[in-house]
Amino acid sequence: MNIGPFTLANNLFAAPMAGVTDRPFRQLCRTLGAGYAVSEMVTSRKDLWNTLKTSRRANHDGEAAPIAVQIAGTDAAMMAEAAAYNIDRGAQIIDINMGCPAKKVCNKWAGSALMQDEPLALQIIEAVVSACAPHNVPVTLKMRTGWSQSHKNAVTIARAAENAGVQMLTVHGRTREQGYKGHAEYATIAAVKAAVRIPVVANGDINTPEKAREVLACTGADAVMIGRAAQGRPWIFREIAHFMATGTHLAPPLVAEVKRLLLDHLQDHYALYGEFSGVRTARKHIGWYVKSLPQAEAFRDRMNQMEDCGHQMQAVADFFDALAVHTDRMPLARPDTLLAEAEGRERTEEMEKEEKEA
Ligand SMILES: Cc1cc2nc3c(=O)[nH]c(=O)nc-3n(C[C@H](O)[C@H](O)[C@H](O)COP(=O)(O)O)c2cc1C
Repeated sequence: MNIGPFTLANNLFAAPMAGVTDRPFRQLCRTLGAGYAVSEMVTSRKDLWNTLKTSRRANHDGEAAPIAVQIAGTDAAMMAEAAAYNIDRGAQIIDINMGCPAKKVCNKWAGSALMQDEPLALQIIEAVVSACAPHNVPVTLKMRTGWSQSHKNAVTIARAAENAGVQMLTVHGRTREQGYKGHAEYATIAAVKAAVRIPVVANGDINTPEKAREVLACTGADAVMIGRAAQGRPWIFREIAHFMATGTHLAPPLVAEVKRLLLDHLQDHYALYGEFSGVRTARKHIGWYVKSLPQAEAFRDRMNQMEDCGHQMQAVADFFDALAVHTDRMPLARPDTLLAEAEGRERTEEMEKEEKEA
């Protein structure tokens, strides 16, 4: 599978998730079998580019090619500038965010709200493509199926985007109005795939190898993108890759391996965020790794009291050592729990924080 000049290792993609898919997590997903991973969204607001948050998001030290950066905004000229700014900082692919349900930029709704204003959406696409063309940087677009049940315009936007030079489309099978409620539907993604020649990526509710296979088959999409089900389970990509290749399931990872992965993840995380922020923002990742394991609730409560890296890493190591006494391998997670939790607390908090800052 190719995006412009880049040939990807496979067609299993890690979704952009603000507050989650930072560089350490993207690198981990790619090591564990994702062929491609898109950054968290970077705002098109210039006044925020010097904030610690945006400069961390624009830091791609040691990241493997292709480096894909997602930009969010509501103004064509600002989005073009944001594309150029990120290309200067190492972006090799620019992704336009028309998929996020709740993001205010300059007091206007960005993300999937842009789907309601097709002329503005097209202006943004054209401006970003023009800014990227001199650098030979492909532009991709992530969107939803439409604005609401009665305004599903993904096919119209897909055709316009292809004509304007967009080189890949990702479609989350929900409308903006749905937020994360209900189930993703894949018929609209199939309609988008049938309407364009550029690669189409199917996204939404993929939480098992079987579901990945089913969604690829029913949409005809070129790739699948996985978000919430990779939180705390970045090895889902190699599980899907193995299933696609052999039709059989990989055994769950060894507890000892997950302990090592998580400790390495934490070290990369602290290196990017520093101790104060790092310990606090690592709590949600740790919470996802231990979710549905015995004693997880009590462990999470204790974790929330810890304020330094050394104690946090030691507590994680002890937790997995204690688990390894009872079982060699990680217990199987119930697939529905992989999507359910993100709909609630974590997602809402993250989105609220993002909106306040914008
Ligand atoms: C915490 C969180 C943050 C997200 N942030 C972004 C974002 O920055 N840009 C974007 O296009 N989509 C964002 N999304 C949407 C995901 O990329 C994806 O489309 C959605 O979660 C559906 O896929 P899933 O069912 O595999 O999770 C976010 C989702 C979550 C849960």
